[in-house]
Amino acid sequence: MSTCVIVPAAGSGTRLGHTEPKAFVQVDGRTLLAHSLDAIITSGVATTIVVAAPEVFVSLAEAEVAEVRRRFAGGGGSGRVGGGAEADVSGGSGAGAHESRVRPGQVEIIVVPGCADRVESVEAALTAAGDPDIVLVHDAARALTPPAVFDRVTDAVSSGAEAVVPVLPMIDTVRRAEESPRRIPLDDDADLEPDPPREQPDPPRGHAAEVEVLRGDLDRGSLRRVQTPQGFAAETLRRAHASYREEVRTLGAGAREATDDAGLVERLGVDVVAVAGDEESLKITYPLDLVLAEHIARERGR
Ligand code: C5P
Repeated sequence: MSTCVIVPAAGSGTRLGHTEPKAFVQVDGRTLLAHSLDAIITSGVATTIVVAAPEVFVSLAEAEVAEVRRRFAGGGGSGRVGGGAEADVSGGSGAGAHESRVRPGQVEIIVVPGCADRVESVEAALTAAGDPDIVLVHDAARALTPPAVFDRVTDAVSSGAEAVVPVLPMIDTVRRAEESPRRIPLDDDADLEPDPPREQPDPPRGHAAEVEVLRGDLDRGSLRRVQTPQGFAAETLRRAHASYREEVRTLGAGAREATDDAGLVERLGVDVVAVAGDEESLKITYPLDLVLAEHIARERGR
């Protein structure tokens, strides 16, 4: 079975506090894009990889691809498959349903310009993906995802699941916020608003504050944190994107938000099934995530 891994990598680095796009931010001396490509190639699941890079960064992304290729050709990579293009990559970890592993030197890697939103970036990549049996979509932001997660997802799709996501349990208590904040009257000594500066008079009696009201109606035990790579029968993913495009065309801004591909597939009535995710697949989004990612990458390199 042929498998294409799509890597949406066209997002900005704003939340990370960087001016360059997130995929080009470095962890342990290499870009998030390079780390992502390493993991995908090392897993041996991909016949083709399509990277959606920011339009003006396409040639930089191609340079990253060339750097990753050189590492694998020189026996580098992240080690699991022995690196070099001629390494024996059959078999691999676990009881995988996808029988053959793709040798690093045989993986075709294409870079396409991404778009203004993630869904469109995935669609641009899908257009360049050829005709694979399976498509995995993997955010470049989850750069340190262990290769074994790619195996688990691909195995589940190869075994017949139409849509597969890696998940972790919810560790925080989760509550839903009411749609609009409420104004509540405050006692004179209530502490919901900052104290007025000294030179200002006390607020009048009966003043109010806007507060967010929470509803405790979510059962943490039944909730999951959803990661990438998400895997799909290729035809199912194409159908989901076509259907979403139609929804956007007819409803415009009223179309439901789509934060991942499994969400779009689910709207077709397809069951999305779970496999185990991994804490190291963290989505590198805020500066603190970079600190953790740096630590993980260095520990791996020891
Ligand atoms: O913005 P968010 O964190 O959800 O992005 C998830 C992934 O989608 C990132 O890897 C980012 O580079 C990618 N993305 C994209 N095109 C966009 C926005 C995000 O490829 N326009």
